[in-house]
Amino acid sequence: MHRDAAIEGAPTRKATCRAGSNIAFIKYWGVADPALNIPLNNSISMTLAGAHTTTTVAWDDSSSGAADSVTLDGVELQGASAARIVAHLDRLRAQAGVPWSARVVSNNNFPMASGIASSASGFAALTVAGTAALGLTLDAARLSALARRASGSASRSLFGGFVEWERGSSHSSSTARQIHDESHWPLMDLIAIVSTGAKHTSSSDGHRLAATSPFTAARTQHVDEWLATVRRAVAASDLALLGPVLELDALAMHGVMMTSAPSLLYWQPGTLEVLHALRAWREEEGLPVYFTIDAGPNVHLICEAETAPAVERRLASLPAVERIIASGPGPGAQLLGEHLF
Ligand code: PMV
Repeated sequence: MHRDAAIEGAPTRKATCRAGSNIAFIKYWGVADPALNIPLNNSISMTLAGAHTTTTVAWDDSSSGAADSVTLDGVELQGASAARIVAHLDRLRAQAGVPWSARVVSNNNFPMASGIASSASGFAALTVAGTAALGLTLDAARLSALARRASGSASRSLFGGFVEWERGSSHSSSTARQIHDESHWPLMDLIAIVSTGAKHTSSSDGHRLAATSPFTAARTQHVDEWLATVRRAVAASDLALLGPVLELDALAMHGVMMTSAPSLLYWQPGTLEVLHALRAWREEEGLPVYFTIDAGPNVHLICEAETAPAVERRLASLPAVERIIASGPGPGAQLLGEHLF
């Protein structure tokens, strides 16, 4: 790591940000406006302390129209794999009105192959570091809206603890905000990594396909009621109230995915193995643990901190579970004084 010259007083066009990934309790799945990533419904998530991305952005103010360079977990991205990041750098350049090229180096503290979405933490960190390095001072809502353009869930990773993304109806009104900070409730997310392997449809393509599922209308019809329950459950730190709704919306979202055209099937045999085991622990042993699943095969087991060791022990004994990543609620995106280059 390199010390920031700015901290010693010299000007710099470099900044570094760390942002946590997040797990949604009520999901974002489906877009009202695909160009702007305006979602069909509000979503609520917990920012994760244990899975984060650190990104350094340096702008070259003597360059104009040169190519950007992007290195992710030690690998220099080329062509299509860099395109989504370059598209976001274009948004940042437009915001500042400059033609400068950027060097971006980004590291995840969780393995990419683990199937945990890195787009939320990655684009939150890129937005905060990139705008800071440009000398832009944007408030949290504007940063959230900007991050949303790259990845909807990134709008939530700007904030720590428990976060709600308000659907809104325009670029500036579709933003996230913190509803409780990270000290509010020591909830745990135990991410059971089951065999990944097969390449699946990206979430950006999946959001567009949601419109083709006959179940989207049913989910949309109920989601406001589920959001209200999740708000109440989180405010009261009530897992018995949160858990059933958490599972219901995850199943509703996967129902939408499975019934879209083409059908998306993210589950693997290991996914079901974990779900059946979890139900048995809860129903036969009284263990208070619930699940949610994102656009992938891994299962997120949500329980309170005091139950986590018992859940983790049981999970580790399942043949399908390759690895467990445990995380409590974490802080919002923060600028660091040390850089990756
Ligand atoms: O931000 P995206 O486009 O990667 O979409 C995230 C979609 C889910 O992770 C499945 C749900 C959510 O709200 O995080």
